[in-house]
Amino acid sequence: MIVFNEEDKIFHLSNKYISYILKIDEYNQLLHIYFGKKIQNSNFSHLVEYAKRAMASCPSMDKNNNSYEHMRQEYPQYGHGDMREGAYEFIHNYGSNVCQFEYKCYEITRGKKKIKGLPTVETVECDTLSITLEDKILNSQIILYYSIFDEEACISRRVEVKNFSDSPLKIEKLLSMSLDFYDNQYEMIDLYGAWSRERYIERHKLHYGKQSISSMRGHSSNNFNPFFALARKETTENIGECFGFALVYSGNFEADVYVDTYDVTRVMFGIESSTFGWTLNKNEIFYAPESILVYSNEGFNKMSNVFHKVINKYLIRDKWKNKVRPILINNWEATYFDFNEEKIIEIATIAKEMGVELFVLDDGWFGKRNDDTSSLGDWFVNYDKIPSGINGLSEKIHDLGLQFGIWIEPEMININSNLYNEHPNWLVGDKNYLISQSRNQFILDFSNDEVVDYIFKLLDNVLKDSKIDYIKWDMNRSISEAYSQNLNATSQKEFFHRYILGVYSLYEKLISKYPDILFESCASGGARFDLGMLYYAPQTWTSDNTDAIERLKIQYGTSMLYPLCTMGSHISAIPNHQLFRNTPLNTRANVAFFGTFGLELDVTKLKNEEILEISKYIEFMKDYRKIIQFGDFYRLINPFESNRCAWMVVSEKKDIAIVGVYKILQNVNGPYEKINLQGLDKNKKYTVNSKYECYGDELMNYGLVISDEGSGERSGSYKIEKGDFSSMIYLIKEKEEV
Ligand code: GLA
Repeated sequence: MIVFNEEDKIFHLSNKYISYILKIDEYNQLLHIYFGKKIQNSNFSHLVEYAKRAMASCPSMDKNNNSYEHMRQEYPQYGHGDMREGAYEFIHNYGSNVCQFEYKCYEITRGKKKIKGLPTVETVECDTLSITLEDKILNSQIILYYSIFDEEACISRRVEVKNFSDSPLKIEKLLSMSLDFYDNQYEMIDLYGAWSRERYIERHKLHYGKQSISSMRGHSSNNFNPFFALARKETTENIGECFGFALVYSGNFEADVYVDTYDVTRVMFGIESSTFGWTLNKNEIFYAPESILVYSNEGFNKMSNVFHKVINKYLIRDKWKNKVRPILINNWEATYFDFNEEKIIEIATIAKEMGVELFVLDDGWFGKRNDDTSSLGDWFVNYDKIPSGINGLSEKIHDLGLQFGIWIEPEMININSNLYNEHPNWLVGDKNYLISQSRNQFILDFSNDEVVDYIFKLLDNVLKDSKIDYIKWDMNRSISEAYSQNLNATSQKEFFHRYILGVYSLYEKLISKYPDILFESCASGGARFDLGMLYYAPQTWTSDNTDAIERLKIQYGTSMLYPLCTMGSHISAIPNHQLFRNTPLNTRANVAFFGTFGLELDVTKLKNEEILEISKYIEFMKDYRKIIQFGDFYRLINPFESNRCAWMVVSEKKDIAIVGVYKILQNVNGPYEKINLQGLDKNKKYTVNSKYECYGDELMNYGLVISDEGSGERSGSYKIEKGDFSSMIYLIKEKEEV
């Protein structure tokens, strides 16, 4: 619900959980009043505090108590009294960067629409407020959009700029949101990492000044994820206040938290400004990506839960909304580049018998690609390896009763390729200088529509005659020496944003022609795991690191924002290819269950008993994936802080719960152990692994006993298994009345 108090010029957006309040002041500037737990509607004017402060710049001669430096603002501009960093910057044709946008009008509508060319949360289950601000000298408008969801403690915000002037508007900075919190008693939580250790959780106290995370690599990156949260210092997984922020964008981003010396905390999120610039011509509109704001007063788990719901309900494409993900086998770690059609059929045949549903042919099927030094850009089949072609092979795989998918890396080019010989100018980089290679490859200039169209046609030629159900879209390097021969000298700062718009436009083209294909995005594992990608590709390859024990941290951290149905998770071989670690097969399965679940190993080399064991895991996943992928997820034991990890999912009806408990190293003669479960119905009677019965309140308040023989006890078989890297799944089902 959105109400506007005409007299005091206050907007109040609210639902059952949250309130968001802002005000137009006497100078037609937007002031922020509140975002947090719901408060009833009334006159909030008295909440705007004015005080006289030395050395402050004020807008009028009559008063000296209303400097914008000391006001909480909604979408601030730097320098206009407010000396903190602003959310936008425009340059006049005479060089000035001073401007003054004033409130002009507002509109309240039902639902929200897609942003042109950009991924967007789309739904009718929300109300949207748009506020138009205008600078008469610039003859331009900023439009702020706020959508409040009916059923979630969530607001989305985005910004548009329209230029009506004959002179082009130079945009230097345009963030998607800004929010001024009353105080600074928060800690910042973000997800940092690198290849094979993506989305580790960092939590730190705020200090005065600016703390920020960002990417300037051309993709959202594995270094920092476009997500962060602010929480009170006492906030835990299940208790306390926190605010989560995420950006629906896959390119360069910045997330800034600035604490001023009056203890106000300003949060800003959007396209990274030092690598961005845009010239907006007359009557053009610039769309900044959407940001998502979540509030929780029940800790981080609730925040994640709201994000998961918003992503599943409103972001994932209709075709894949609440749809269980196919159990796939991918041949990458089984064969790398060394395969032929016969080998692929052999793997697929056994996989089918094991219950797998989809075969994915990874890198190496095209051009002359027998290693990673050549052929990116040559998207036509290598008949030496696959004599039947992709169309023939796709038929054969379908005849086995499996779906079929392929790997592509459309944004890349090798010098050793036909594409480079034909179009050397399509490579990103300044030819007057060395252009860095990464994994022997270079970037194709996706800021150029001609390049995107060309790659679409090449891919379309493969897809149109074949039965393709799935595509793994990879992106294996960051963008360096970002210079485009397609853009003129004054537009080079548009490159990064135009590049990602090019990526989105190729996705749009492919999805409109092939709406049934399931895309899985990948960037050397999870270096582009973001909400922008999830709009097009409903799942992401979480990490190249397939080691079950490493995956505990990666999947635990990833779950802060992303639901399990989006996380690619496979059983791979031992010794593990990244860590050389040997983990038991059941632990590899018990970790992979909490994601999309698949296989990434050479099934032709498995022993019979391993085939039978994995087949049982596949059966289990088929039975419970709906609950795992779309139920409520709870983090129970944090692997960053202990020698254990545990998590669980609970079905919507609370009649089934699945708990995964993992031991990293075995301890000896330690304490008995139990964990307090979450999300069950306290009055329901459950059976635990068909071994004993108890009520939900026992499992939540006393806890589930997970002691093992290391505690000196000889336990029943329903308790956790013994030894390093062991694990246990507890299946908790409502007891059926007889
Ligand atoms: C990246 C991906 C892997 C695999 C290889 C193929 O590293 O993350 O899963 O597809 O590329 O080259």
